[in-house]
Amino acid sequence: AAMDVMEKAVALAPDSWMPGGEPDPLIRTKHGSIGASIPRIDGPLKVRGAAPFAAEFALDGMLYAALMFSTVPKGRIATLETAAAEAAPGVALVMTHRNAPRMKPMPLFMTAEKAGGGDNLPIMQDDRIHWNGQPIAVVLAETQEQADHAVSLIRATYEAEAALTSLATARAKGTEPGLFMGQPLKAEKGDAEAAFANAPVRVDRRYSTPRHNHNAIEPHAATVMWQGDKLIVHDASQAVQHTAWSLGDVFGIAEEQVHVTSPFVGGGFGGKCLWQHQVLGAAASKLAGRPVRIALSREGVYRMIGGRTLTEQRFAIGAEPDGRFVALIHTGVAPTSRQNAFPEPFILPTMSSYGSPNIKLEVETVHLDMLANTFMRAPGESVGTFAMESAIDEMAVALGIDPVELRILNQPTEDPLKGTPFSSRHIAEAWRAGAERFGWSKRNPTAASVRDGEWLVGMGCATATYPYHRMPGGAARITLTRDGAVKVEIAAHEMGMGTATAHTQVVAERLGLSRDQVTFAYGDSMFPGVVLAGGSQQTASIGASVIAAHHVLIKELLKLAGNDSPLAGLSAEEVGTVNGGLAKLDDTSRHESYVSILTRSGRDHVSAEGSASAPLETMHWSMHSFGALFCEVGVNSVTGETRVRRFLGSYDCGRILNPKTAASQFRGGIIMGLGLALMEETQFDERNGRIMNPSLAEYHVPVHLDVPEIDVTWTDIPDPRAPMGARGIGEIGITGVGAAVANAVFNATGKRIRDLPLTLDKLM
Ligand code: MOS
Repeated sequence: AAMDVMEKAVALAPDSWMPGGEPDPLIRTKHGSIGASIPRIDGPLKVRGAAPFAAEFALDGMLYAALMFSTVPKGRIATLETAAAEAAPGVALVMTHRNAPRMKPMPLFMTAEKAGGGDNLPIMQDDRIHWNGQPIAVVLAETQEQADHAVSLIRATYEAEAALTSLATARAKGTEPGLFMGQPLKAEKGDAEAAFANAPVRVDRRYSTPRHNHNAIEPHAATVMWQGDKLIVHDASQAVQHTAWSLGDVFGIAEEQVHVTSPFVGGGFGGKCLWQHQVLGAAASKLAGRPVRIALSREGVYRMIGGRTLTEQRFAIGAEPDGRFVALIHTGVAPTSRQNAFPEPFILPTMSSYGSPNIKLEVETVHLDMLANTFMRAPGESVGTFAMESAIDEMAVALGIDPVELRILNQPTEDPLKGTPFSSRHIAEAWRAGAERFGWSKRNPTAASVRDGEWLVGMGCATATYPYHRMPGGAARITLTRDGAVKVEIAAHEMGMGTATAHTQVVAERLGLSRDQVTFAYGDSMFPGVVLAGGSQQTASIGASVIAAHHVLIKELLKLAGNDSPLAGLSAEEVGTVNGGLAKLDDTSRHESYVSILTRSGRDHVSAEGSASAPLETMHWSMHSFGALFCEVGVNSVTGETRVRRFLGSYDCGRILNPKTAASQFRGGIIMGLGLALMEETQFDERNGRIMNPSLAEYHVPVHLDVPEIDVTWTDIPDPRAPMGARGIGEIGITGVGAAVANAVFNATGKRIRDLPLTLDKLM
């Protein structure tokens, strides 16, 4: 009977599967489990409150931590009176630089394979202050309330030193090259300045974007305990292996002595790596000899978790009268702290979005005395596309060409800087499909010409883009058991984006099983693999790791099947998976189930581990996700208030593994982009480096009433160079949104706002 329902066997990746060489055979299969709109498998746990988050692990004898933060940006602690706090009810420990254990600084992110620290400053090792908000004391008490009260009793005075906290002052002193992983963030092709000067049509503008803070629903937290010299950290993490290795380095213990788990994360967005709170929690736990829960308040997140730095950008375009670009210039400054290596790389989208014979790109930096900034959803692209796509809109107005047509006209045929072919680029289709669906043809191209009562109505569009990445270090373990179930273990992460669900689908399809036979286990540093949930690359990394492990598993299964099997004599390349077993690719009557293979060979289970090939595909091909965004706004002519009325994202991101979770990713990104466009701004006091709005009451993010109907659609064309045919979708959603809104506001009002966010005062 099994044979009746058997379809063509799913071919396996050849042993020599090389990204850059043979495409993943799975992309040739028809949508089965892959491509199905499966609800999140972690959803029921979350709505029942049964999903343990980092601050919900209850350990015996646990103490609660509260933190005190400095109020000056630079100098030293002159006095620190802790006696009242130590005497307060329930207090077990007050830790300061005077009694903290000796620790090394965190290894700064990207300076080693598994370095994950947000900064590389000494942590409570001396009396030095490096930023306004630096933690200077940790109180541990029997309850959170007792800890919070006790910390309020600590008194500190400072010997403040002159600090550099103003961007204008820093710029006047001179800029430095922006370095990203040691390389200057710059690129040049031809002579862009000369070509621009000679271009018949020119646009040359300055754009600015403010600081942004991380505001995941779940504030940062860790529950930590020591078992002898072994450190256990229940963390909210998008980098469990990086955190384990880095904490080992800080405390002078081996990586294997640190166990980091992170089964559920309430949003990451680039902010949930290693910051000082995990180190302080572990240090205080060591001193107190008891487990510790350190859960940051919302203010705590603003004080000690880096966000996105501000940018001041120049975007200049030179064009022929027919609209063809002859020069693109995208330069500017993004300040960083000294204890950090992340100048916001806003030139990234300009590297691949449009063709031009002359291109000049450069990010410079200055160093301010401030909290280290870090990755925040689409670092670079989210704010870089604001400048790029606003400038393209300004050029479309100057040329009198429809902005959709201008963008399609200037599509490159190969990577504009590297000259490599695109692996798959269907952005023109995305533009056409999106324009049709949105009703772009109904737009009045004359600005400030459509009214609806006291509302001025306009439409705008913009390109979204984010590169495909896949990081090295991918490994996974697959275990098949005699009951026919399979478990995949990989040190990956679920921050709410649907990782576990999508990969349950992929594994089911790859192994020819049903989804309820598949367990996808993640979020544990004891699992194989170094899979950062960042750079929108986790899905590709997991996919490549599972391919590698699966291939090892097949060989193992064929060995176990032996000479009495219908599979006898077949090599791994000649078999595929179907119906809970293996079959000959072109003759599925030669089939044996996993259960049968394991039973006949007397095995309870078979386990296989494999490591992904190096990500060579990005050397051979230029690989990017794309999107075409359409926005309709109403701007109130009396109050200046902007309301987004409709939004549509039309994406080309390769194959979509799960339309339901993918749509949520796109929509979530767009919503974050609406915040970037209209309201998000960290108010930074340039006199003293203090963040002035460290709460969701004063730092505005979109609420339901700010979010209109968001329509998302996609090409679903598999990328032949990506595992499973899928490029990333985690970050592209936020890109381009700032410009799509600003361009719609221009169409509505005739006012061009080049400084985010688009608050009403700028439109009055
Ligand atoms: Mo993302 S900013 O790489 O989590």
